[in-house]
Amino acid sequence: MVMISKYLTKMGRPASYLSLAIAAGLAVAGALWVNIANAADAEVDTSKLPPASEKKVDFAKDIQPFLKKACQDCHDAGGGAGNFSVDSEKSILKGGEHGKMVIPGKSAKSPLMYYVGHLLKGKEMPPEGAGDPLTKEQLSLLRAWIDQLPKDDKAPKDPAK
Ligand code: HEC
Repeated sequence: MVMISKYLTKMGRPASYLSLAIAAGLAVAGALWVNIANAADAEVDTSKLPPASEKKVDFAKDIQPFLKKACQDCHDAGGGAGNFSVDSEKSILKGGEHGKMVIPGKSAKSPLMYYVGHLLKGKEMPPEGAGDPLTKEQLSLLRAWIDQLPKDDKAPKDPAK
């Protein structure tokens, strides 16, 4: 901090306030980014997720209805919160402002599961008070859907990139 203020005093006042604001913004964005980037690492306890269902999953029939019900209010076709839309299979695969939320073939590495499985503190989806959490059966189906997607070898290992 000492070094930063020294650096700032060298610059004009308005500029220093501006850079301070930018620095603060970057720090917040950075912290969020690291948080999500970590979501892809082993730091998340994926053993808390129910195992994937053995069932052959049909997105329209088995997944879409409960996602629409639980998420659509905030994550609609227009982009929605976090620029993440549950409107279609395609929009879910596209991801949100923090990148891909689904890694095809790898439910245990898919940030979407961390949000809905309540593995990320403070980022539980749906947020507290905004509806019931997904049931074990729904989580299990969601995992199966992700695991049964054709693997995309071009998908980045780190979904935040
Ligand atoms: C009451 C509103 C609300 C509901 C309902 C809700 N969300 Fe969210 N969701 C948010 C908000 C707000 C954010 C952005 C939070 C942030 O950036 O810290 C978010 C962020 C996300 C993200 C991260 C997107 C990104 O790239 O940053 C995912 C994934 C997500 N929600 C999935 C879901 C799913 C799946 C459901 C349904 C099971 C759901 N949400 C229900 C409000 C909601």
